[in-house]
Amino acid sequence: MKTLDNVDLAGKRVFMRVDFNVPLDRERRVADDLRIQAVLPSIRKVIDSGGRLILASHLGRPKGKASVEFSLTPVGEYLATLVERPVGLAPDCVGQEVSALVSAMKDGDILLLENLRFHAGEEKNDDEFSRQLASLADVYVNDAFAVSHRAHASVHGITRYVEVCAAGYQLEKEIEYFRRVMEQPARPLAMVIGGAKVSTKIGILDNLISKADYLLIGGAMANTFFKAQGKQVGKSLVEDDQIETAARLIDAATKKGVKVYLPVDAVVSAHPESCGDIQQVPVERVPADTQILDVGSGTLEVFKSVLRNCKTIVWNGPLGLFETPPFHKGTYALAEFLGDLDAVTVVGGGDSAAAVRRAGMEHRVSYVSTGGGAFLEMLEGRELPGIKALEECCRRV
Ligand code: 3PG
Repeated sequence: MKTLDNVDLAGKRVFMRVDFNVPLDRERRVADDLRIQAVLPSIRKVIDSGGRLILASHLGRPKGKASVEFSLTPVGEYLATLVERPVGLAPDCVGQEVSALVSAMKDGDILLLENLRFHAGEEKNDDEFSRQLASLADVYVNDAFAVSHRAHASVHGITRYVEVCAAGYQLEKEIEYFRRVMEQPARPLAMVIGGAKVSTKIGILDNLISKADYLLIGGAMANTFFKAQGKQVGKSLVEDDQIETAARLIDAATKKGVKVYLPVDAVVSAHPESCGDIQQVPVERVPADTQILDVGSGTLEVFKSVLRNCKTIVWNGPLGLFETPPFHKGTYALAEFLGDLDAVTVVGGGDSAAAVRRAGMEHRVSYVSTGGGAFLEMLEGRELPGIKALEECCRRV
């Protein structure tokens, strides 16, 4: 794939798809800037090379209608403070007014287009909308790994109508880390999978069973595995329709020689809403009136003793209800432990990435992916349509 280092950027209109779908707080200020920070190297490269940078993104799911709630204006204002130069804010992402703004750009200027999803054509991968976006570009850059699992116009359709395509630095880095951990990992390779539901992780677990040496399972999804083993989990979240799947997955892992670790103890509460009556119990003795909300200290010791000997570790999904203290402890402890290890440690998925950042460990692990759904699809072993389209466009020229 071509990258920003091997395309001519000087004086060119560089249309860069980024993923600025970031959380905003109540005052509509950027609450987590991981995805913005991640594309700063690409942004700097284009402007320092004398390109005219047109940034395009979605924010939220406005379903084809313009609204202030989903405007990218706060993100543009925030970006201007990071790059310490003006960022023009277009009132739309296509149309005459936008074309006029693009024509008036000078080398090194930055223009942020308004939310792509204000037009239904974006999510429909509409041909005419793709052409309209492409008419703004001499060079198309995808630096939006986190949305590359969507076959949308600005990620997919547009690549048919631009002559020069390239991958941004962030996209390159995401692909490189994935290859490193999934194709030729230093072994032993451990995968830590958490989160609430088995049903959303079946594809991943199926894929990982043929790749990992160890599988460590936490979060509420572990409850469904406990049920499959005949354990009682009180009032904890269980997906009854996934109990058979959980049993099948354990069986498949055992046959492949993958060692599966489930929590051995749990932090439970009879009144989770008020964090009342919290206690730590072995998983064989979860009281009937309680809910499992985090892993216990014994589990952390077991997980650490496995991970300590691993050379590659991939983590997706929190180990407990990490948004609600004190049930964040297991997840934060794992983040801190990974930050101290001398191994390739890759973390991805919105919640785990947020936990690693909140624990202050984002610079201590090897890599934090910007992807949520895209990271999950990569773990499932699926080809992302945005990356495929970019590769085809790069090959064409
Ligand atoms: C994400 O946050 O995972 C990406 O920005 C994609 O957003 P979407 O799930 O609304 O398509």
